[in-house]
Amino acid sequence: MSQKTVLTGITTTGTPHIGNYLGAIKPAIAASQKPGVESFFFLADYHALIKCHDPERVAQSSREIAATWLAMGLDTDVATFYRQSDIPEIPELTWILTCMTGKGLMNRSHAYKASVDANQAAGKNELDDGVTMGLFSYPMLMAADILMFNADIVPVGKDQIQHIEMTRDIAGSFNHTYSPLFKMPEAQVDVETQLIPGLDGRKMSKSYDNTLPLFCAPDTLYKLIKQIDTDSKLPGEAKDPDNSTVFQLYNCFASLDQAQQMRDKFVNGIGWGDAKRELFEFLDEKLAGPRDEYNRLMNDLPFVEAVLQKGAAKARQKSVPFMEEIRIAAGIRPLPFVPDSAAKKVKKVKSAADLAKAAEGRRRGILMQLKSVIAAVEASAEPASAAAQLLAEKTALLGALKGKAQDKAENELQVLTEEFAKYSC
Ligand code: TRP
Repeated sequence: MSQKTVLTGITTTGTPHIGNYLGAIKPAIAASQKPGVESFFFLADYHALIKCHDPERVAQSSREIAATWLAMGLDTDVATFYRQSDIPEIPELTWILTCMTGKGLMNRSHAYKASVDANQAAGKNELDDGVTMGLFSYPMLMAADILMFNADIVPVGKDQIQHIEMTRDIAGSFNHTYSPLFKMPEAQVDVETQLIPGLDGRKMSKSYDNTLPLFCAPDTLYKLIKQIDTDSKLPGEAKDPDNSTVFQLYNCFASLDQAQQMRDKFVNGIGWGDAKRELFEFLDEKLAGPRDEYNRLMNDLPFVEAVLQKGAAKARQKSVPFMEEIRIAAGIRPLPFVPDSAAKKVKKVKSAADLAKAAEGRRRGILMQLKSVIAAVEASAEPASAAAQLLAEKTALLGALKGKAQDKAENELQVLTEEFAKYSC
């Protein structure tokens, strides 16, 4: 089986809720444990700046999301777990991709179009009002996240599918223009985890304000569970588990057996109060261990930071050399660099220090060969005239030689002239 790279990120703007865990963290951890999978999971903190300009909130969310991944059992020796902003190659790649992306493609981005629609409805300047360049460019930063590690599979929510399609368009444009360095990623959308209901029965989402936090205090959890919308059926009346948020949340954490037992209780007319209490006790028991670990980690942030730093170092072992390749493909290169295909035709340019070193080496070699001739001159009765005679002979010889032999003789003459300079001949 060939190795597959799985990559996903969570934007650091909120407190992790049960929907985040079931929809993103749990399946990602499961994927990272499969053989033949290399996984990259990260805190998308540069993405957070697109929609949140509250620095405390971004910072606190980064802590909470990092601690959640760890408390839920991510093995950071197996997966590469890092913070987007610790990988400077990602924003660097974003720029190169920005130059590969048509503005028309970005005009079609859902995130931007949602603002356009809202502006239209509010009678504001349609295209521009409240739209930062960050929001407009969002898909290019996400493309850089994905392409930096050449991910094959990107587990995301349905709303993100378009961004993966755009990533493929952008990668294709780079590959076609420069060099085929990027793989085409695929979105992976888990239909079941898209359906995790929130307190009001709609999809659990920060934007609906209907979430159950993963790690709140037990009494808060119970209070929120009591707020779950239900129908008005009385205790003793049969209830439909498949249309009940209480049952669906239970089901998300339950084994098949446990789910069946709860299903039977619904059919047999369990009262809503009892059903909610059972849901609370069940969730609380499941979450108690991870919650303790989460609280421990939140009280030891230097440890969590060190884990992220270890992850960044691991990620950069890939991103630094790959970014170098990408830059070189685009023509951003050290001045002497010559691509392989052209290297045969053009001599590699060496630095002045390298050239001086090479010249010195050549001189030493020639001196070695001429050692006995020089010694004979110096041992003669009249070294100055012997030296002059030798130089005259060598000079006369030059004219008769060609090509390499002539080069060699010239080099020898040069060295002899320097050696005999003391005789001023
Ligand atoms: N934009 C994603 C979201 O809001 C988060 C994200 C950022 C992401 N970069 C990514 C997800 C790369 C997958 C791959 O959900």
